[in-house]
Amino acid sequence: MTRAYSVKGKKRKNKDVVEKYHREDKEVADEEQVQPKKPNLQKEEEPTQTPTPKITEENNNNELVGIPIAPPTENNSEKPGVIFILEKASLEVAKVGKTYQLLNSDEHANFLRRQNKNPNHYRPDICHQALLSILDSPLNKAGRLKVVYIRTEKGVLIEVKPHVRIPRTFKRFAGVMLELLQKLSIHAAGKREKLLRTIKNPVTQYLPINSRKAGLSFSSEKLVNMKDYLSTIPSNLDLVFVVGAMSHGKIETDYTEDYIAVSGYPLSAAYCIARICNSIEGKWNIL
Ligand SMILES: C[S@@+](CC[C@H](N)C(=O)[O-])C[C@H]1O[C@@H](n2cnc3c(N)ncnc32)[C@H](O)[C@@H]1O
Repeated sequence: MTRAYSVKGKKRKNKDVVEKYHREDKEVADEEQVQPKKPNLQKEEEPTQTPTPKITEENNNNELVGIPIAPPTENNSEKPGVIFILEKASLEVAKVGKTYQLLNSDEHANFLRRQNKNPNHYRPDICHQALLSILDSPLNKAGRLKVVYIRTEKGVLIEVKPHVRIPRTFKRFAGVMLELLQKLSIHAAGKREKLLRTIKNPVTQYLPINSRKAGLSFSSEKLVNMKDYLSTIPSNLDLVFVVGAMSHGKIETDYTEDYIAVSGYPLSAAYCIARICNSIEGKWNIL
């Protein structure tokens, strides 16, 4: 099987693909993603835009026709992979005026204050950025991301397939999450496959037995260099990382073997994830 990405030390043979990407990059919209550098890749008909929610007058519900899937990547399902769990994600729906909306501190501060709630705790953008950081990673593009789970502050567990194309703008992300929390699943555009769906707790029942699970927190006393930390883990194990997707507080899990800090500084969830992905990409030689 041809590799989608050149391996260390090898000369880049796909110069034309790279040039084509730079040319196309100027033309395509922001949410268009880079096609894998595979010469024999079958070109799929793909929607150029994520469908925006249509609001009907009767029920004001968002009706999406499905969410796009990312272009196929390498099939590395037999190799060890990575699972991310985003804990305490602020994804809460409420009826604001006449419509149901995903609560966020920018748009609903007054509404939340009237309900005696702290607007600063309503930050679905943290989950959005964290998801983009995971899904955009070369680790995912190399087919080594197994799945992402999101557990909301209210305890709703969501499964996110690695090949979903999450909208890049927050407004459209909010539309998708609103639909998910109302309908409990969202399928791929034109297909039956559920790319996003709510599933039963606890998350532990879905985790591979042969895995090393680590919780991430700035407040952990075990400050590690990720490269050194990864070198202590047997190479046949899947890796599970639990990262907080909230603005305040820390993750509380009883199912992780480790509780680590990856920097001496408090990071955003998205940056913390980028650091983890980057280190694993180094270990697994994903360029
Ligand atoms: C915006 S932070 C949450 C803020 C929270 N006060 C905290 O420090 O845990 C989001 C998440 O990123 C991760 N994180 C941030 N800085 C980290 C660090 N230095 N080491 C490990 N994880 C970190 C944690 O999982 C945290 O829950």
